[in-house]
Amino acid sequence: MTVRILKDEKAVARAVAARVIATLAATPAAVLGLPTGRTPVQLYARLRAAHAAGRVDFAQATTFNLDEFLGLPADHPASYRAFMETHLFGHVNLSRHRIHFLNGAAPDPVAECARYEAAIRRAGGIDLQILGIGANGHIGFNEPAAGLIGDSHLARLAPGTRRSNSDLFGGRVRAVPPNALSMGVGTILRSRAVVLVATGAGKADAIAATVEGLVTTRVPASLLQLHEAVEVVVDQAAAAGLTRR
Ligand code: GLP
Repeated sequence: MTVRILKDEKAVARAVAARVIATLAATPAAVLGLPTGRTPVQLYARLRAAHAAGRVDFAQATTFNLDEFLGLPADHPASYRAFMETHLFGHVNLSRHRIHFLNGAAPDPVAECARYEAAIRRAGGIDLQILGIGANGHIGFNEPAAGLIGDSHLARLAPGTRRSNSDLFGGRVRAVPPNALSMGVGTILRSRAVVLVATGAGKADAIAATVEGLVTTRVPASLLQLHEAVEVVVDQAAAAGLTRR
């Protein structure tokens, strides 16, 4: 793992946007894995601005999002799909048929996850997977557990994860679906390169455990230590728990 510690959230967004822009400049048909959450909001704002300024072209790109709430159709305002429309998809020249999402409203979640894995394989795999991280070390909706499922699957959300997603549901924790569909840690580890992004003091413990702790399914992001091309991009606050700097 390489770790880049930058001054603040703005510098982190700038660096990760530059990485995406460089990836698409070198490989216009790159396959991107994308996260939702508060962390990538500034990243997507920068990509929108770069696109408007003619500095990045998504015309040939393909995207796969990490996860989606179970039971929410794509047009539900609290869905991750709606989040992506608002923050990125509605503003750049991605081809609609190359935007891929787990369908939270699919009648058969198992078949839906198998469809998603096959679609990723058909696209040639993910070139650059961007990840956020939960305060408990989750990636996607792969929550800390005694064991983890490798491929995309139906996942149960930890209580803290439902709380941290409640903003999307008007602050009502009980309105947050208890289950989701998510890429698995295997899906993520099959990506050719991974950028893990974290900002703010609330992520400091998770980042320390991910980067310097044991590889353990109790900290799902620590499995990224097994991948040879992972860059962790954090601000000072999220880096506060690192001892080796
Ligand atoms: C959510 C998502 C993750 C995201 C993480 C961090 O629950 N399922 O994909 O990376 O938690 O979210 P945030 O960036 O809002 O802290």
